[in-house]
Amino acid sequence: MTDPTLQPPRPPVDAPAPAGETRPLKLFIKSFGCQMNSYDASRMADALAPEGYSETGTIEEADLVVLNTCHIRERAAEKIYSELGKIREMKEASGHKVTLAVAGCVAQAEGAEIIRRQRAVDLVVGPQSYHRLPDLVRRARETSGVVDTDFPVESKFDHLAAPSAAKTRARGVSAFVTVQEGCDKFCSFCVVPYTRGAEMSRPPEAIVAEVRALLDAGVREVTLLGQNVNAYHGVDAADRGWTLAGLARTLAGLPGLARIRYTTSHPRDMDAELVAAHRDLPALMPFLHLPVQSGSDRILHAMNRRHDAASYVALVAEIRAARPDIALSSDFIVGFPGETEADFADTLALVRQVGFASSFAFKYSPRPGTPGADLPGHVPDEVMLDRLHRLQALLEEQRQAFNRAAVGRRLDVLIEKPGRHPGQLGGRSPYLQAVHVDGPPDLIGTVQPVDILSAGPNSLAGRLAVAVPTPVAERLAS
Ligand code: 5AD
Ligand code: SF4
Repeated sequence: MTDPTLQPPRPPVDAPAPAGETRPLKLFIKSFGCQMNSYDASRMADALAPEGYSETGTIEEADLVVLNTCHIRERAAEKIYSELGKIREMKEASGHKVTLAVAGCVAQAEGAEIIRRQRAVDLVVGPQSYHRLPDLVRRARETSGVVDTDFPVESKFDHLAAPSAAKTRARGVSAFVTVQEGCDKFCSFCVVPYTRGAEMSRPPEAIVAEVRALLDAGVREVTLLGQNVNAYHGVDAADRGWTLAGLARTLAGLPGLARIRYTTSHPRDMDAELVAAHRDLPALMPFLHLPVQSGSDRILHAMNRRHDAASYVALVAEIRAARPDIALSSDFIVGFPGETEADFADTLALVRQVGFASSFAFKYSPRPGTPGADLPGHVPDEVMLDRLHRLQALLEEQRQAFNRAAVGRRLDVLIEKPGRHPGQLGGRSPYLQAVHVDGPPDLIGTVQPVDILSAGPNSLAGRLAVAVPTPVAERLAS
């Protein structure tokens, strides 16, 4: 897998031209970081559509450029400043007025400092204020230097505009839905509890309504997002508490929803009810991102993870007993302060013991304001790099083995889009593997059994297991 700090460019989605505008306003959003940022980017576009902004994939024609930033590691944050430098040049050379906004977690963490470092920035807006974007953008077009990094009392979710059905359709058959934001875990390396704030769960009714609207527009898969999603604890109008398992059960009953995923989870919040949901709900996909970070108890303790390696391994065994075909992925950090070669060997041992379908591994990056940044025992960069390469080699070996094991199997594939070649379709297996298959485009949005014929480095190729008569859509709908 590639580094999740790089999001693929978002496809342009047209909005109607604004009433009274001579030239339609164009919006270019570039998102870095996690899937929640991708979701936020869509919601920002939705919030600005009534203002007359339609999205463009070409930065040069944009009237409003939004960099949706990530603060999780130093490199991610530094990348933003070099990006801003390039946009400043473009802005100066442009024949029209360009407003430049910085959103996301760097905006939240650095606030007005961003404008001090890069004068071309007109607006800095934190993730909790996206519902105020229309007003903030209007102000920033008149006077630059607008900053909003408050944690407002009102919830942005109650005020964010919903996308039109056409826009949802253009975004594809798989959609993200944020159900929870913020984190109370305070892992000692992590900025999230500071940038995204305390844990907040959206009310279940609002989530169900959002998913229903997505389904009406043709979405077939939802990924429930949260920084610590399995800590979800929504409260409904009758004051009843909901868990993620309860939410998944309700969503699984909605007609038209073929697949449910959720990310990212903490091992401590993987309770028996959620494990049972994996046993009981066919719609809950057998692929779970459950970061362990390290295999060393000493380091896990220093990271304030509140679990040890053995309890993680035992949890995985419990999950596999409930859903034997489940595949796991994880995040790892190498070179946390004080990590010795023996600690690192424990991480490799845990990886060998568990076996992961795909994972991300990172060099530790000290984040200002986190407890980890003050710990002694700095690991030299070359040692970190060496460990990173050794861990990545093992994870890659496991990923390839997992992909090869699919060859000869019949997997359900959610057909998502046309493939790269004419007559080809692209979809995803239950394990989130990209699958290419030949077939008619009216299969998009359906789940098809596919016989997997071969495994490439990043995708599988297969053949439709069932010859599909046309018109397919009518047959599948009946
Ligand atoms: N340094 C390196 N990696 C980090 N992550 C979070 N904070 C840091 C940091 N300071 C990684 C963790 C987390 C993923 C999203 O990013 O592995 O699970
Ligand atoms: Fe960060 Fe830990 Fe919370 Fe995940 S659980 S967002 S790593 S503090």
